[in-house]
Amino acid sequence: MDLFSNIDIEPARQRVNELTELLDRYNYEYYMNDRSLVSDYEFDKLLRELADLERQYPELASPNSPTKRVGGEVNKTFRQVTHRFPMLSLGNTYSIDEIVDFEARTRKLLGDTVFSYTCELKYDGVAIGLTYKHGQLVQAVTRGNGSVGDDITANARTIPTIPLKLRGSYPDDFEVRGEVVYPFSEFEAFNRQREADGDEPFANPRNAASGSLKLQDTAECAKRKLQFCPYFVMLPQENGELRTENGEYSTHSGRLQSLVQMGFKVQPYMKECLNINEIREYIDYWDNERWNLPFGTDGIVIKVNQVALWDRLGLTAKSPRWAIAFKFKAQQVSTPLESISFQVGRTGIITPVANLTPVWLGGTTVKRATLVNADFIEKMDIREGDSLLVEKGGEIIPKVVGVDMSKRKAGAQPVAYITNCPECGSRLVRADGEAGHYCPNSDGCPPQIVGRLEHFVSRKAMNIDSLGSERLEMLYKKGLVSDIADLYTLTRQQLIGLEAIDADGQRRTSIQEKGADNILAAIEKSKEVPFDRVLFALGIRYVGEVGAKKLARHFSNIDAIIGASPEELASVEDIGEKTAQFIYDYFRDLRHLQTIQRLRDAGLNLRLDKSSFQQSDILQGKTFVVSGVFSRFSRDEIKADIEKNGGKVSGSISGKTDYLLAGDKMGPEKRKKAEKLGVAIISEDDYLGMLK
Ligand code: IVH
Repeated sequence: MDLFSNIDIEPARQRVNELTELLDRYNYEYYMNDRSLVSDYEFDKLLRELADLERQYPELASPNSPTKRVGGEVNKTFRQVTHRFPMLSLGNTYSIDEIVDFEARTRKLLGDTVFSYTCELKYDGVAIGLTYKHGQLVQAVTRGNGSVGDDITANARTIPTIPLKLRGSYPDDFEVRGEVVYPFSEFEAFNRQREADGDEPFANPRNAASGSLKLQDTAECAKRKLQFCPYFVMLPQENGELRTENGEYSTHSGRLQSLVQMGFKVQPYMKECLNINEIREYIDYWDNERWNLPFGTDGIVIKVNQVALWDRLGLTAKSPRWAIAFKFKAQQVSTPLESISFQVGRTGIITPVANLTPVWLGGTTVKRATLVNADFIEKMDIREGDSLLVEKGGEIIPKVVGVDMSKRKAGAQPVAYITNCPECGSRLVRADGEAGHYCPNSDGCPPQIVGRLEHFVSRKAMNIDSLGSERLEMLYKKGLVSDIADLYTLTRQQLIGLEAIDADGQRRTSIQEKGADNILAAIEKSKEVPFDRVLFALGIRYVGEVGAKKLARHFSNIDAIIGASPEELASVEDIGEKTAQFIYDYFRDLRHLQTIQRLRDAGLNLRLDKSSFQQSDILQGKTFVVSGVFSRFSRDEIKADIEKNGGKVSGSISGKTDYLLAGDKMGPEKRKKAEKLGVAIISEDDYLGMLK
């Protein structure tokens, strides 16, 4: 029997090898050399053929198959991995004088030795280490805290510039470290899409890259178009035959160069510098040129090039003495303030926005920037006709940091703040102690109504994803929906034929039968959303996801929350007095109570389904402090687990703490305090034992 199946599999094996080789080559040419050897259609056809064969003969599917580039696996958790060698950080400075000192110190320490420096970009992304054994990628781990990181191998395999198999000659077992960056153009397209989908955009490419590597769905990570920029080669046998005086691995630049032959995309901006003047030149050049790069850089890194000298220079507590980072200052420009617009948010909050004379800053044209609130304008003393100083650091969003006093006109008057809502004309209110104004007409002010609907359907709330902003706006304009509860009375007839303009303002689309059915199905499904998310979806001011969860757990149902006094509300962890008062006032408004009655009639979850989160009450009455790094859980997971079993988690050790759950790398201070107060210190295994 075995004999037959082996014979059967041989032609398949051959074809799998053939397809793998072809697809690897096409990928390589496409991503490394910008060369397309086949049409997309042909490529997809071959990839599908390979995927089909792998499904049919799972024993032929290799972990580094080109099919892994498109993802498809699900990361359930990210295993924590201890780095074979710690991932050090670098000493860094904004001061060129300190670079001069670094250079002089290094030269002094090395005496007569002839050596050079390499200068390269400091990529602004997420540091990862890639382990290759026998030329195969076997593991990708984030830097984490330098000692322990997350295993993100499956997601790393989807990054086209990370070779899955190496070419040419390579060390047998080694690590390539580098930064995963999100190129600006891809990042901006991705953020635009997020906004169109009603998701919060990422603040900068670094956060987006980091979020992408932690995605559970590898196929989603594959869509993100991340890039890997190698900056370091870590050879485990530093004293073995690989480290020779003249060999290619004896210098940092040689090592990076050798990566090119292995199939890595190495950024071409490195320069070997012989003295401080050349280093200065490199810094000055990139301080100006950095905005023309396709990805973000926040400084430059200077390293001693000769690997043999690294041991001689040694390490300080956290960073090597043979390297240093120079960080660029945020870029600043001055540009005239043309006018101020006022936006109305879903809770009625007014945000003033500066309309600026367009100016080129940090790789994009800046036309608008937030002025936050009336206090901000007052504090900055912004006047009519002023020019504003606008800054952009690692963030994509420009910030107003002051007034350019050199351009202030004589007799310039403070800018007038509006007194009435720009959308509905209501007189604005500014509560005592509040920095911002708001429009109190919550039920009659269009952006507030639509904003509330948008929040209600958003992914983290009721997740009715087939209703985007445009459709909601149309439903509101047609008079079909103005209160969140109206969504549950929508009919198929009302939806079919409804027209909406696309997010880009170009196309007019109308809802067809299938679209209407999808919307109604999503609305129906939202009735299963658990109580804490329904509470969050109501959009009570300052009640975020976490606050809603805590309230739901504390009170168990909406009626108990409605009946709670401000003091009772404020006794819930994470709910401050101000928020408690907002919650209390919210439920004193008859219209809100009517809405809640209608939501109840529609069948939404207005009480906690204990079984959905409570697994046991074994830890009832016990308070834990969690600290350090764990091997089976992330810190958040272990905290959630404690709560699921009835325990409480607190941020700091006090007389009320029962257990300090200690992971790896817990700070000595915590241990000392626990010992002093007689708090039991338990390990992850002890904890799991308690649950048995
Ligand atoms: S070298 C021992 N080179 O900056 C040398 N680091 O604080 C290790 N980084 O965590 C780092 N670009 O994530 C090096 N060209 C570059 C870099 C770079 C970005 C990051 C890296 C590290 C941090 C250093």
